[in-house]
Amino acid sequence: MSEYLDKLFAPTQLKGLELRNRVIRAATFEGKCPNGYPSDDLIALHREMAEGGVGLTTVAYCAVEADGRVKKEMMYMHEGIRPQVEALTRAVHEGGGKLSGQMGHCGNFSQNSDFQGKRPLGPSPMLNMGGIGCGLPFAGAMTHADIDHVVQCFHDAALFMKSAGFDAAEIHFGHGYGLSQFISPKTNKRTDEYGGSISNRMRLPLRALEAVRKAVGDDFPILGKMGLTDGVKGGLEIDEAIEVAALLDEGGIDVLIPSGGTSSMNPMLLFRGDSILPGMLELEKSAFMRMGMRMMGKSFFREYPYEELYFLDGAKRIRDRIKNAKLCYIGGSSTLESLESVMREFDFVQMGRALIKDPYFVKHAMADPNYINGCTHCNKCATMILHPDGIRCPEND
Ligand SMILES: Cc1cc2nc3c(=O)[nH]c(=O)nc-3n(C[C@H](O)[C@H](O)[C@H](O)COP(=O)(O)O)c2cc1C
Repeated sequence: MSEYLDKLFAPTQLKGLELRNRVIRAATFEGKCPNGYPSDDLIALHREMAEGGVGLTTVAYCAVEADGRVKKEMMYMHEGIRPQVEALTRAVHEGGGKLSGQMGHCGNFSQNSDFQGKRPLGPSPMLNMGGIGCGLPFAGAMTHADIDHVVQCFHDAALFMKSAGFDAAEIHFGHGYGLSQFISPKTNKRTDEYGGSISNRMRLPLRALEAVRKAVGDDFPILGKMGLTDGVKGGLEIDEAIEVAALLDEGGIDVLIPSGGTSSMNPMLLFRGDSILPGMLELEKSAFMRMGMRMMGKSFFREYPYEELYFLDGAKRIRDRIKNAKLCYIGGSSTLESLESVMREFDFVQMGRALIKDPYFVKHAMADPNYINGCTHCNKCATMILHPDGIRCPEND
């Protein structure tokens, strides 16, 4: 095995957390929390990740409050699910792995039919296209009290996660979720101290990071997934993204994961490859949403042909600007050659689809230098987030 694959598969430490290798299963919303409760299937999925050999597996998505869920079939961090969450963390530990949870708030794009507030809140008022079908067509602007509340939710969720056995937390600063709505000039039109300059737009994200750090202490790893670009006109671009990374670095993030695109404006930029539109149309239950998808069609689900390591250039620019945080590469690493290149430049790698295709990737690749993963980036797994049983690789059936 090459020097760099040796590096990938050798034990390492992250802030004192012992990891058996540098492979992290990326946050891929599993769709296995009926009515918000983690199911046995979710536990089995992450147990299998651990048994398959990854160093750290990421549970997605761990909303920081009930109204921070995109859909009601997502879990949010609260005492009512402690037994299931503790069973999940136990299962991963029994499998020999460690686990992180992706902490997020959906902000203005809720489609949660159990929504408890009056309307979803983001940085600025806007239409909530995805919420029209469930009676949430408009999003309002957060007041300062709402912002303080969100910060407190990040704090409390982190406390809960640590006490329930998570080994690390990943804050979602990207993909158009609540914190990235503040970072992006496309969605943040505020004129107070939370809008305008990049340091103002970063005020809430940095407060959330500070609150999570306060909750978990200095020894607990905090990862942050952020955008390199929103991929839409008027949105976040790479030059500002580098400043975002620098501010998170100064704010004490331990690992940065540069990704791109937004779920609500340009989803295909996240993963590239075959369009998810046909599969989504097949599985979407709401006739209204299906009509919206058809209308938005190709302008929303844009074409990005798949290539390996598609975020490499952007991720290198972030790496060059960062002083303290470690860098984790994400985006199209599914061959051993790609993983070798990644390990030349970065500290960790996150993998999504390749591990959905083969949860035993690490064990298989360690045993066979000619291992081929077989993921074709057809993205059918991504459409399965709408399936009642959640995600799997249909090509494995
Ligand atoms: C089924 C599926 C669900 C996903 N859900 C999330 C999510 O909940 N949070 C997130 O940050 N990214 C999510 N992503 C994006 C992945 O984390 C990752 O950024 C993307 O798949 C690119 O990595 P890959 O080429 O290794 O698959 C999802 C991807 C897939 C395929």
